[in-house]
Amino acid sequence: MSNESGASASPPFAAVTELRLGRPDDFHLHLRDGAALESVLPFTARQFGRALVMPNLKPPVTTVAMAAAYRERILRACPADATFEPLMTLYLTDHTTADEVARVAESGFIKAFKYYPAGATTHSDSGVTALKNVYPVLAAMQQHGVVLCIHGETTDPATDVFDREAIFVEHSLTQIVRDFPALKVVVEHITTREAADFVDAAAANVGATITPQHLLFNRTSIFSGGIRPHLYCLPILKRESHRQRLLAAATSGSPKFFLGTDSAPHSRNSKETCCGAAGCFTSHAAMELYAEAFDAVGALDKLDAFASRFGARFYGLPRNAGTITLRRETWSPPDAFAFGQETIVPLTQGRALGWRLGA
Ligand code: NCD
Ligand code: ZN
Repeated sequence: MSNESGASASPPFAAVTELRLGRPDDFHLHLRDGAALESVLPFTARQFGRALVMPNLKPPVTTVAMAAAYRERILRACPADATFEPLMTLYLTDHTTADEVARVAESGFIKAFKYYPAGATTHSDSGVTALKNVYPVLAAMQQHGVVLCIHGETTDPATDVFDREAIFVEHSLTQIVRDFPALKVVVEHITTREAADFVDAAAANVGATITPQHLLFNRTSIFSGGIRPHLYCLPILKRESHRQRLLAAATSGSPKFFLGTDSAPHSRNSKETCCGAAGCFTSHAAMELYAEAFDAVGALDKLDAFASRFGARFYGLPRNAGTITLRRETWSPPDAFAFGQETIVPLTQGRALGWRLGA
């Protein structure tokens, strides 16, 4: 896939034609529910050993009992030959209780709470309306060692959409990390230099996920030749200098930065319309997309740790058994997939990839 940097592979890895990696984990995934779940789950299960499943269903997954039922539906939708483990999250609201946090800590299968500032993104209207509302619950999470995953964007409608993450980092994130120094925090799908710098400078209990779209595209890509709804996600793609900073973070070898696709399926009709939904679908070629990004900056040797070690370490999980193989091969994924009764158009629409998952 072409990218805006024009960077080419450095000599040591240009000759690499096959990559064997530990079976990776996706620490940020939207699986939806029902027929949509059945359509998208096989793509993730063939690449990843585990995925952290986001709770922004309608209604949101707010209790241990709801997460247990959702997990059962995911396991039922899983292809019979897959060895895939869903790791669950709960949706943090103004009404979440410290008792629910204690139940999460005991559950074993729920690995985090997800903090959506109310109104920040798709299905976030039940999210947190003011940071102070969840302070007692954050204290309980810190006490029980439960991870907080954060959608880090301010929701002030007057704030420029391209500045929402940087402002959240400066005000809200700084405050959370200052007031709960031992809380395990994952800043989800970081998109800016400010977020990467913040995580780099923070203590070891603060990490971040990085998506393939934010490593491969910048905000100009959204408008190249016309408006491209399948490149629209939140937080929105940023300018090229931010993309370069994210690439540096992902390939730095720092265990704070790890893989989370944020693959977020929406039907073609809800994307290609007058007011399109936010979210990019990447599960069909997730590892291939990351390989593309790492290859472009000569860092293929850093992909294994980013994809299959650092996230597991952050969450205190063992590494997956088994491996996957990626081969250097030019191929074009389908431009659409079935999505329940509808269709879904992937991020890769109209593009060729240079890596392909092997058997
Ligand atoms: C996600 C979705 O569609 O659920 N959309 C997105 O643009 N990333 C929600 C989210 O993670 O923000
Ligand atoms: Zn997401």
